[in-house]
Amino acid sequence: MDRKKSINLLNRAIAEELTAIHQYMYFHFVLDDLGYDLLASIFKKTAIDEMLHTEKFAERILFLNGEIEMKPAKNIEHIKDPEQMLKWAMKAEEEAIDMYNEFALEASQAKDAGTKQLFENVIIDEERHFDTFSTELENLKKFGKEYLSQQAMERSKRLGSQIKSQETG
Ligand SMILES: [Fe+2]
Ligand SMILES: [Fe+2]
Repeated sequence: MDRKKSINLLNRAIAEELTAIHQYMYFHFVLDDLGYDLLASIFKKTAIDEMLHTEKFAERILFLNGEIEMKPAKNIEHIKDPEQMLKWAMKAEEEAIDMYNEFALEASQAKDAGTKQLFENVIIDEERHFDTFSTELENLKKFGKEYLSQQAMERSKRLGSQIKSQETG
């Protein structure tokens, strides 16, 4: 087994995951501030998934007696438009899927079936993320501003009924 090779692949994977975590949390903050609760929570939930991927990769590095670098691949982009956010996310997921497919092959060549399997498991999650973001982008395109104003209205309704129940209770 070529441990060094696997450790290098795993650290590169962590760099991608950290970039996604930072960017998705930034999207979450902006969307939450705008009151778009559904989309805000999708980005937060996905960021948590990417954190769990980071944890699995880090555990594997330690198992291989390597050092965890924890350096994000890129700085975040200050994107404020929901459609651009979804496009950024779909591209990132697509790139992760391609990258981890390549890394699974390289891990196999390094005779490291455990690392190969880890990449393959994570690919399934990234495919699910891609699917979620692409559905949201379709909805946004189909329903336009309605899609977002609906989410903001849901929040107002919820707040309204909370105030009401405080008054009567
Ligand atoms: Fe991930
Ligand atoms: Fe992902």
